[in-house]
Amino acid sequence: MKQSLPYQPGPIGVFDSGYGGLTILSKIREALPEYDYIYLGDNARTPYGTRSFEIVYEFTLQAVNKLFEMGCHLVILACNTASAKALRTIQMNDLPNIDPDRRVLGVIRPTAECIGSMTQTRHVGILATAGTIKSESYPLEVHKLFEDIKVSGEACPMWVPLVENNEANGEGADFFIRKYIDNLLAKDRQIDTLVLGCTHYPILLPKIQKFIPQGVKVVAQGEYVATSLKDYLHRHPEMDMKCTREGKCRFYTTEAEDKFIESASMFLNENITVQRITLE
Ligand code: DGL
Repeated sequence: MKQSLPYQPGPIGVFDSGYGGLTILSKIREALPEYDYIYLGDNARTPYGTRSFEIVYEFTLQAVNKLFEMGCHLVILACNTASAKALRTIQMNDLPNIDPDRRVLGVIRPTAECIGSMTQTRHVGILATAGTIKSESYPLEVHKLFEDIKVSGEACPMWVPLVENNEANGEGADFFIRKYIDNLLAKDRQIDTLVLGCTHYPILLPKIQKFIPQGVKVVAQGEYVATSLKDYLHRHPEMDMKCTREGKCRFYTTEAEDKFIESASMFLNENITVQRITLE
């Protein structure tokens, strides 16, 4: 007789405050196309980057709980701000009570891991939201792995609104893109590697490339997060078993559905359907 499983396998949850996490989702689906995914964007309450620790934690925990309710055993916080401000507390304090067998992973650690082999000068710059920079999560994670690397950061509060308002390719974007890059490079002239520490920023990449000096590399984290997830599933067969594989992806937003579909087209090359939900 076929034994029934003690759990119901489910999709992998991918969460972001808005659309930015779609840059991570695309890379994950390229690397792991056979798995099923649920993407959840808290578009009604974006941006998170300027919010307090308490609020980002509260909103992120609501999203994680919702993805668990929807059947996910593994959730990726495809948002640097949520990874910086909420991940550790959720892992340490909440998961043991909610369900010790479920997992929540972030995007900062996999990005920090790749930095060591990218920089020659050992001087790295982080471009991120005010919240991520203030949390010091990047220097902390990088120094756990590479003590010798000097990390400087610059908050780019105008970049997420440029993306969310479909102005990434507009002329007005140039001023703010150049401004934050120049500010960061002025802090440390030896920087040879710039990390895009916000999942929205890869959308600005063509313009970012225009304003960085020759020889400076730009790291967009999607592919590193995808490789790290692949490796995680390989090292954790007990979690891998709990992930369904039909190659499907469902989308949920806390904002209006038509708005999500219109803006998501910037990030995805496919027609999608999306359902609105509320988080509480
Ligand atoms: N995409 C989020 C991140 O990676 C930031 C967007 C926001 O401020 O909500 O940090």
